[in-house]
Amino acid sequence: MEGKPEILFSKTVIEGRVRELAGRISGEYAGKNLLIVGVLKGAFVFMADLVRGLDIPCRVDFVRLASYGAGSTSSGKVRITKDLETDIAGRHVLVVEDIVDTGLTLAWLVETLRQRQPASLRVCVFLDKSQRRQVPFTADYVGFTIPDAFVVGYGLDFNEDFRFLPDVCVLREIA
Ligand code: XMP
Ligand code: MG
Repeated sequence: MEGKPEILFSKTVIEGRVRELAGRISGEYAGKNLLIVGVLKGAFVFMADLVRGLDIPCRVDFVRLASYGAGSTSSGKVRITKDLETDIAGRHVLVVEDIVDTGLTLAWLVETLRQRQPASLRVCVFLDKSQRRQVPFTADYVGFTIPDAFVVGYGLDFNEDFRFLPDVCVLREIA
């Protein structure tokens, strides 16, 4: 990896888009018991901004997932390393994730959470690398669709670095 990462979406552009998403979510969940489930760690910044943009009440909980196998790409064999603390049966659940790439992780998570019989289950992703899908997966809310590049910042990391960056940046080279 070399140099300063190149900005793809600035803090200001992100703020505007997150406000739009929060507005849509507020309208569609008005009067419902909304539980927002963040996928750690990548979603933490997006989720923090999203919930503060809502004008309806919600509760929050978190899961942490790990993929079996080596490498930076998903194997599709996922496990939960930190489970929800909330019983989601009968709840309106909105999963919030940083990015959908192959779709393997979110397809697995949705299937797993569906078995717990929530009243409804939708997914909100900050970024969508739609060209990279290996299994069919469509998020209900998408911040931005992006081309196939490795991105960091706004919660997204490369080897745990760059999560703190307020902008989304492209890493030109992955060492
Ligand atoms: P799948 O392929 O299962 O995986 O949809 C989604 C997970 O892959 C990681 N991922 C990225 N993380 N920059 C990142 O920081 C990226 O460009 C990127 N692409 C995929 C991420 O952990 C996500 O949850
Ligand atoms: Mg992630």
